[in-house]
Amino acid sequence: MKVLVTAGPTREALDPVRYLTNRSSGKMGYALAQAFAEAGHETLLVSGPTELDVPSGVDLLPVESALEMFDAVRRHLFRMEAAVFCAAVADYRPAKASAQKMKKGDDSITLEFVKNPDILGSARKEFGFQGTLVGFAAETQNLETYARAKLLRKGCDLIIGNDVSKAGIGFDSDRNELLLVYPDHSESLPEDEKHHLAPRLVREIERLEATRKQS
Ligand code: PMT
Repeated sequence: MKVLVTAGPTREALDPVRYLTNRSSGKMGYALAQAFAEAGHETLLVSGPTELDVPSGVDLLPVESALEMFDAVRRHLFRMEAAVFCAAVADYRPAKASAQKMKKGDDSITLEFVKNPDILGSARKEFGFQGTLVGFAAETQNLETYARAKLLRKGCDLIIGNDVSKAGIGFDSDRNELLLVYPDHSESLPEDEKHHLAPRLVREIERLEATRKQS
């Protein structure tokens, strides 16, 4: 398969020295990209800034902001058979990024934010993607309900939910515990190393893509 994986956080600039970001080390997305490449798939990793090494056999397309990630996905998605959106994309960006460093002054300041495009949510309608579409859902409560709502709203074949309120898993950690949410059922994957969970997810996505191709 040709597979696109998004990973890591996005950075939304306030000025040349400051930005807003989301918590994400990139570990889950990089583990997935590595597992796809090791399974013989042509893998493009669209990644926000991380400290991680690019897994061998994976093509990296580095981006910084949500708008850059949106543009990178828009340019490459059409030639993919599967896409997995693991990035923690900032939902909003500052309405105006200052060209010069903002100087200290008032005791409090108010910033205006505007909504970033929903990259995963654009895959089906805006980009016309017909391949296997997989998203993640990072939740702190009602994991299955919220993940299922995202599955329907974003037109996914599978949403991989993780409860990021639990200590030792999710953000930054080497470990995770996942809930696979399909249109007709859900399945839990117990806590394990992200590098052990990733090949399991790859097999699942291979199965979804084989089923899609047959239909
Ligand atoms: O990077 P790690 O430290 O290993 O942590 C892994 C993780 C917790 C970041 C990862 O497992 C995860 O859950 N990623 C998705 C985080 C998230 O932002 O979820 P969300 O529920 O806000 O978004 C739902 C889906 O829409 C995700 O697939 C997200 O990539 C996508 N999205 C969201 C907003 C947006 N503007 N564009 C998007 O494509």
